[in-house]
Amino acid sequence: MIDKIKELIAEAEAFKAQTKEEVEAFRIQYLGKKGLLNQYFAEFKNVANEQKKEFGQAVNALKKTAEDKVNALKEELESKEEVKGVYGDLSRPGSPINLGARHPISIVKNQIIDIFSNIGFNVSEGPEIEDDWHNFTALNLPEYHPARDMQDTFFIQTNPDVLLRTHTSSVQVRYMEKNQPPIRTISPGRVYRNEAISARSHCFFHQIEGLYIDKEVSFADLKQTLQYFTTQLFGKSKIRLRPSYFPFTEPSAEIDVYWGLETESDYRITKGTGWLEIGGCGMVDPNVLENCNIDSKEYSGFAFGVGIDRIAMLLHQINDIRLLSENDVRFLEQFKSAL
Ligand code: DAH
Repeated sequence: MIDKIKELIAEAEAFKAQTKEEVEAFRIQYLGKKGLLNQYFAEFKNVANEQKKEFGQAVNALKKTAEDKVNALKEELESKEEVKGVYGDLSRPGSPINLGARHPISIVKNQIIDIFSNIGFNVSEGPEIEDDWHNFTALNLPEYHPARDMQDTFFIQTNPDVLLRTHTSSVQVRYMEKNQPPIRTISPGRVYRNEAISARSHCFFHQIEGLYIDKEVSFADLKQTLQYFTTQLFGKSKIRLRPSYFPFTEPSAEIDVYWGLETESDYRITKGTGWLEIGGCGMVDPNVLENCNIDSKEYSGFAFGVGIDRIAMLLHQINDIRLLSENDVRFLEQFKSAL
């Protein structure tokens, strides 16, 4: 009988199972109420005294082997199930999800779009690869006009009529060609200039162009609109329109915002004057209206253009324009909490 028990121990040790049901059947066979072990325990009283010790040890060894086997198999099957399971262990910490952030240029662009949509401006866009007509000629900058030198242009070498737009003013032309007044539109976009790259200037940057054409639009309307804009965006309502020259507007002006001189950084940003230039503006030159088939005797209007990069740098204390195009996540991550 002891040999039989030893055989059973070897069998139990070798036992393998794929399912929980198989493990349960094994447990019942060995450890169940009517299982092998209980049968051997019941047999104990019939065993001759001198064999009791050896018999007892063998039966205990069988019991331990069977119990260990059942536990080991259960554990093994459960751990496999966990991996397969849809939810696994719900108490485990989740894997971190990396949240993206909007680019500071997009943040500021969207803010400006919101501000102007509140007063009835729509958004229009045009191509970055432009032709001479839309970027220059229609804007009162005919070939050989000296003011073309104000904007160092990237031309496509094989075709002088194709260039990378130097300003978003080209979108004004496209919009007026397709739409008759009343016109209220802003055109955000990227522009290109053949300039040396430094902390302050880049060969591409972003502008927002504004255009308002209707009957009896005056310079006062322009100033009021710009004042509304600076108040909304910077919380600064004091502006000044400094006489300037752009071929596509007459009269023309630079837009200065009074930033103040309260802190050391105000001194630095405004070079000690308290005033900060944010863009150009003016009354659309009648020639430009006529170039776009708008009757300049019936309609007048204003236009303005501001740089988005400079405003983003100002609002977010970015001290190098190159950071805006390097796509370094350590930089971009810092705008998670912005809009
Ligand atoms: N296009 C000009 C530039 O890039 C900015 C500008 C000035 C736009 C006056 C305008 C404007 O619409 O009226 O320097």
